[in-house]
Amino acid sequence: MSADSTPLQSFAVINEAVQTLGNGGLVAFPTETVYGLGADAKNPEAINKIFSAKGRPSNHPLIVHLAAPDQLDQAQVDWVPVLAPWVRDLSEDALKLVNTFWPGPLTLVFRKDKSVLNELTGGQDTVAIRSPAHPIAQELLRQFKGGVVAPSANRFGKVSPTSAADVRSEFEDIPGLLILDGGDCEVGIESTIIDLSSGDHAILLRPGLITPSEIFAKTGIRVHLPGESNASEQDATLTRVSGSLRAHYAPTTPLRMYASGRVLDALSEFPDIKSCVAVAVWDSDSSLSEGGHPSVHFEEVIVPSDSAIFASRLYRSLRDLDQQGWDLILFPEPPVGEEWDGVRDRLQRACFGSGPSSSSQANS
Ligand code: TXA
Ligand code: MG
Repeated sequence: MSADSTPLQSFAVINEAVQTLGNGGLVAFPTETVYGLGADAKNPEAINKIFSAKGRPSNHPLIVHLAAPDQLDQAQVDWVPVLAPWVRDLSEDALKLVNTFWPGPLTLVFRKDKSVLNELTGGQDTVAIRSPAHPIAQELLRQFKGGVVAPSANRFGKVSPTSAADVRSEFEDIPGLLILDGGDCEVGIESTIIDLSSGDHAILLRPGLITPSEIFAKTGIRVHLPGESNASEQDATLTRVSGSLRAHYAPTTPLRMYASGRVLDALSEFPDIKSCVAVAVWDSDSSLSEGGHPSVHFEEVIVPSDSAIFASRLYRSLRDLDQQGWDLILFPEPPVGEEWDGVRDRLQRACFGSGPSSSSQANS
């Protein structure tokens, strides 16, 4: 949403939100990616409240959200004073990335300043930071005048929220939770995460809307995939990114992907009769073009064949379908191509964590 369409009512509520954060409370707020559950990044008790509200293991680090520098002239925006209190060794490449993509859906991992709380970094020597592009998030951060840690506002392992109502339903047991309503999130999947802490090369920890090709095209910086780095580095990477667990972002209903034209193959994993199956179909395909199945009722749900639009609606679709009582949900495998890596990543983890058949492997 644009700055002019920000609901006025939210600005009145922002004062209350700033006070709540200052008093060590939690505030849910919109970002352009997904809704976050925020707390004062300098308050250990407030940070602990996030872990218990989410049911998230305390060694999974959080992202610090910072306001963009207050300057009218974009060309003169200086991020150095914004970042200096949080990071050690601000490299030239880091500044190039920040100047090009912030505010926006890009999180950068730096070696941390010693003042950064261990509670938020999971005891690591690094800190993840981003400046979100949503006007309500920016207003909140500007008025709070400090860093706000914010994981996605969902229970650990579950589908991330892309509307205020989603957050409310995730945290029904916290009736007083203050939720700033900024409408539906535009990007719809979490920020791209790039690790700059090794000093020599940038490593992609989580794919998102901003891809390595776009980064290369706009900055000349080459982003390495975790597989391209050596094994020990990769192990370290995998243990510290909770989004890298195989099961994540998951609905309760079993969810699987099907290869093009192979819907019936996807059923073979479910020998019990599945009577009602929702099948997502590309808007570019006319229909399932399957012969059908004697005991299964399929219903088609159209999904966008544009990767950015698909991403913006993915979690909305998963939540809605999860509420509709299907026995199984099938999604088409996303096409090959970097612009699909973010949604492919989320769909794979959602499949793995979904439904009763994989509950023994789910992480929460
Ligand atoms: O789009 C987003 O990034 C959203 C919105 C709310 O900003 N936030 C989000 O937070 O997705 P969360 O906590 O759900 O995911 C943060 C990811 C986790 O996978 C975590 O492991 C990783 O960031 N992370 C945080 N600090 C890190 C660090 N120091 N090193 C490596 N990974 C880190
Ligand atoms: Mg999350």
